Amino acid sequence: MNQPILELKHIVKEFFGNRALSNVSLTLMPGSVHAIVGENGAGKSTFIKILTGAYSKTSGEIYVEGQPISQMDPMVSKKLGIHCIYQELNVANDLTVSENVFLGNQPVNKFGLIDWKKMNSDTKDIFASLQLRIDPKQLVREISIAQKQMIEIARAISQQAKVLIMDEPTSSLSDREIEILLALIEELKQQGIGILYISHRMDEIFRIADTVTVLRDGQHIKTMPLNQVSGVDELVELMANRKVADYFNKVEAPIGEPVLKVEGLNKRGVLHNISFELRKGEILGVAGLVGSGRTEIAMALFGLLKKDGGTICIDGKPVDIRGPRDAIKLGIGFVTENRKETGLTLKMSVRENMTLPTLKQFDRFLWINRKEETGAAEVYRKLLNIKTTTLEQTISNLSGGNQQKAILARWMIQGTRILILDEPCRGVDVGAKAEIFAQISKLAQQGVTVLMISSEIQEIVGMSDRVMVMKEGHMAGMLEKSMITPDHILKLAFGGATSA
Ligand SMILES: Nc1ncnc2c1ncn2[C@@H]1O[C@H](COP(=O)(O)OP(=O)(O)OP(=O)(O)O)[C@@H](O)[C@H]1O
Ligand SMILES: [Mg+2]
Repeated sequence: MNQPILELKHIVKEFFGNRALSNVSLTLMPGSVHAIVGENGAGKSTFIKILTGAYSKTSGEIYVEGQPISQMDPMVSKKLGIHCIYQELNVANDLTVSENVFLGNQPVNKFGLIDWKKMNSDTKDIFASLQLRIDPKQLVREISIAQKQMIEIARAISQQAKVLIMDEPTSSLSDREIEILLALIEELKQQGIGILYISHRMDEIFRIADTVTVLRDGQHIKTMPLNQVSGVDELVELMANRKVADYFNKVEAPIGEPVLKVEGLNKRGVLHNISFELRKGEILGVAGLVGSGRTEIAMALFGLLKKDGGTICIDGKPVDIRGPRDAIKLGIGFVTENRKETGLTLKMSVRENMTLPTLKQFDRFLWINRKEETGAAEVYRKLLNIKTTTLEQTISNLSGGNQQKAILARWMIQGTRILILDEPCRGVDVGAKAEIFAQISKLAQQGVTVLMISSEIQEIVGMSDRVMVMKEGHMAGMLEKSMITPDHILKLAFGGATSA
């Protein structure tokens, strides 16, 4: 057990002369969890991608079980037993669970045909060894995101993974699902698998990691055993090189006249009779489990989900929102949960992404006032500390958290009246979170109405004037300010009874 499965020494990575990593080293032991932490753009994902062969290193050495690996590419990496669970899950919805586990690697019988029986029973065995209950014959489309992630893990195990890399695996999971994943990681450790774990959630790091490596601006700041770290503050300070303010400091502000009224909103099988009213400058937190209908409310308001019934009124007048264009015209902005699918235009520049739906505002002379547009984008780049070489950089080259900040900036620039935020701080580091929440609070103070969906109860509790709790497509309750506590929210979200 004393030989490391993985050693990376003095890794350097440059993108067109810009150093994303300089001299980073890491040793991974079998049966251990090594966390990599750092602010957005620190180089965590880049480091991982060098290991999976997605990027080639500029210099440095890689050893797998003591053997030097001169040329790393995705095939070699897999063959060496290195598997990565990326944030964007890699499953086929129209296949069954077991087909997904054995995708491209199906067992065949003596006639050369796919051995379905073996596939199903092997899948069952893998899940059993992980103490999970998922039906191998179920269609993947019918299972939760968390279960899909489990499939990817099962797939890695079926291919005898020695190293499992997880890059922000919990960012789309609910609390309960996170618990299952963390328990699973414990199980994988027992099986001798080495795990590299990236997360912005410090509580997770402290629970599961044995060792932590801190990166800052591509530099290797420190590696230490977790039991020698005094607490979250120490880690965050190492990452940010400064003290980070307590976040969720909402500034109390007067709440104005009603702006948005939703009455009897219905969508068959998804939303049932949702009614609420929102006022100027009010922040409504929307809580509930993943899949409880929170995102669907947001989509209906933004014209991305066709409602079967109900009315939406703005300033007392019924409105017909048939698509995002209508919504934007009415002053509604939407920061989506899934930035890759509905948020960013990946091929465009950071500036274009920040100003995309606002171009109208800048093109009053029928051409785009580039100067004004750049000015606004620049203000928000500084405010939210978006890490990019220039605003003209293609946005897909930004780190995950910095892409998220750019989308937030878009709607702040827009002069939105009603801002819908679906998990606004997904993938954003602790320090940047403080800044984003301060900005959201400031917008509310200026009279913007905010509807904020979040799976992190602390965010909901810290930011909301009222909280709507969703359960299975129904409104389980509306909590007034004095009633907003984690306990009340959880009780409503689970509906008293604990359903597994
Ligand atoms: N393909 C690329 N081309 C140019 N620059 C890149 C590319 N990929 C990453 N970078 C840059 O490398 C730096 C590190 O990015 P990386 O994605 O590794 O950060 P991260 O630590 O994973 O951040 P986050 O927490 O936001 O995911 C960033 O400044 C990013 O813009
Ligand atoms: Mg990343």
